[in-house]
Amino acid sequence: MQKNEKDWWRKSVVYQIYPQSFNDSNNDGVGDIPGIIEKLDYLKTLGVDVIWLSPIYDSPQEDNGYDIRNYRQVFEKYGTIEDLEHLIAEVHKRDMKVILDLVVNHTSDEHPWFIESKKGKNNSYRDYYIWKDGKANGQSPNNWGSIFSGSAWEYDVNTEQYYLHLFAVKQPDLNWENEKVRENIYDMMHYWLGKGIDGFRMDVINFISKDQRFPDGEIKDGALYGDSGPYFVNGPRIHEYLQEMNQKVISHYDVMTVGEMPGASTEDARIYTNPESKELNMIFTFEHMSLDQKGDDKWDLEPLNLIDLKENFEKWQVGLHGIGWNSLYWNNHDQPRVVSRFGDNTGYREKSAKMLAICLHMMQGTPYIYQGEEIGMTNVQFDDLSDYRDIELFNMYEEKQSISWSHDKIMEAIYAKGRDNARTPMQWNEEKNAGFSQADPWIKVNSNYQEINAEKALADADSIFHFYRRLIQLRKELDIITEGDFQLLLRDDSQIFAYKRRYNNQDLIVLCNFSSEKQDLSKDITERIVDAEKIISNEDVSKPDQLSSYEAAVYLVSDGE
Ligand code: NOJ
Repeated sequence: MQKNEKDWWRKSVVYQIYPQSFNDSNNDGVGDIPGIIEKLDYLKTLGVDVIWLSPIYDSPQEDNGYDIRNYRQVFEKYGTIEDLEHLIAEVHKRDMKVILDLVVNHTSDEHPWFIESKKGKNNSYRDYYIWKDGKANGQSPNNWGSIFSGSAWEYDVNTEQYYLHLFAVKQPDLNWENEKVRENIYDMMHYWLGKGIDGFRMDVINFISKDQRFPDGEIKDGALYGDSGPYFVNGPRIHEYLQEMNQKVISHYDVMTVGEMPGASTEDARIYTNPESKELNMIFTFEHMSLDQKGDDKWDLEPLNLIDLKENFEKWQVGLHGIGWNSLYWNNHDQPRVVSRFGDNTGYREKSAKMLAICLHMMQGTPYIYQGEEIGMTNVQFDDLSDYRDIELFNMYEEKQSISWSHDKIMEAIYAKGRDNARTPMQWNEEKNAGFSQADPWIKVNSNYQEINAEKALADADSIFHFYRRLIQLRKELDIITEGDFQLLLRDDSQIFAYKRRYNNQDLIVLCNFSSEKQDLSKDITERIVDAEKIISNEDVSKPDQLSSYEAAVYLVSDGE
């Protein structure tokens, strides 16, 4: 066991399941909880410690469950509460843990609280949400835009006020200023923790505290809406709320918490994740996911500059070392597939997927693997817009058309960044629908499933799957991976990502070639690794002074060697 059993999450690797697309046991085209249970042994073989389930709650599925209608019920297509209890028991039986998504910045507009709230200004639930009068000129209360395009305010004809929705119109924001809202949320958290879950991933949790002045945001170069971030990202009462939640709920259990936090800097993270703050164990940063775009618009594509990526990781690795804790990820249900994004999914799919895995898994923090990443699943390109499912993408399409983006330009952006890239069904085998379901899946399967699937990967000792398995194993064996400090090497090299971890008289040297060109290694590096033990690599016959295309290797050097 670890030094401090309570900090088990520091030695853990988390696997994220997007229930809708994982495994369909009753053949209705939608993944479900019994389907997840069927695959627990697969996850055990991979060696992960914790399973994070994206929302499994009752929902009209406007945003695939991130719009909750009932926090205490399971979405009927996923199964029942009993199924979920069974899943928790089966996970624990295998000595793994399970965490749920906590989506409390907003609910669905079909949640009973909102239905009440909408009934009238004097309704006792009115203040559960954020209602405002429009401006005197008949415009919305301020110029904030929704993250899913369009205005962030929706007018309600009956009560002649607007409600705030930072995401879809059907996702009204909760009013955290209202103590009753907070108490209700805390009760609901106790309910799930009482069922034995091992923690929460908290959806956009740094958005819950809004600046109560609700001012207009600055309109930046031709943008359609004002920059509202300064008024709700890491808002005025955020630390107070998280501390309250911790004190009233989290601190009563031995569980882990990870906060999804767009717009949180390392300085913020040093507060959120410092154990002394008593807030969260770790957060998800978005900084490394925003380097291949121009400005704030993720759809405005720009090639990645590797030096930016390296410096960004350095900032987080160094910034949180000894103070807070990092979460490490390349992928989740909102991001394109990393092998298509920062690797090469044509000529070097397996090799570049392994390189990316090494690069991330040798860092300090808790790694997250998103379903399918462990077999190197890739992005999709549907010709027909109607084959897509994601609300964000459809709203974006309309908005970009209104500012004269061509169809082709929008499709290119969807191919590169659309969230549906990550949401196609998990590829289990070469059978119909990749073995995900006998029925037509809710979203098309990626056509490459005969080449890329779990069955094949399991049978091939050299597969990406077994590579991830070894990386997870190494993390368990070598404390330097969890504890060591971080030093960036070859800072100015635009193709090689190299770094050193140091702990207890040992160095771990990690070398990753992010390009399809071979790269010469400087003398400084070759001298360090010449007598070192190579502990993992994606290349059998590597040259001592060169990295081949997408080659990655890790060396362990003890002092005196
Ligand atoms: C972040 C979630 O990861 C994403 O999928 C969702 O659309 C938004 N938050 C809104 O809940």
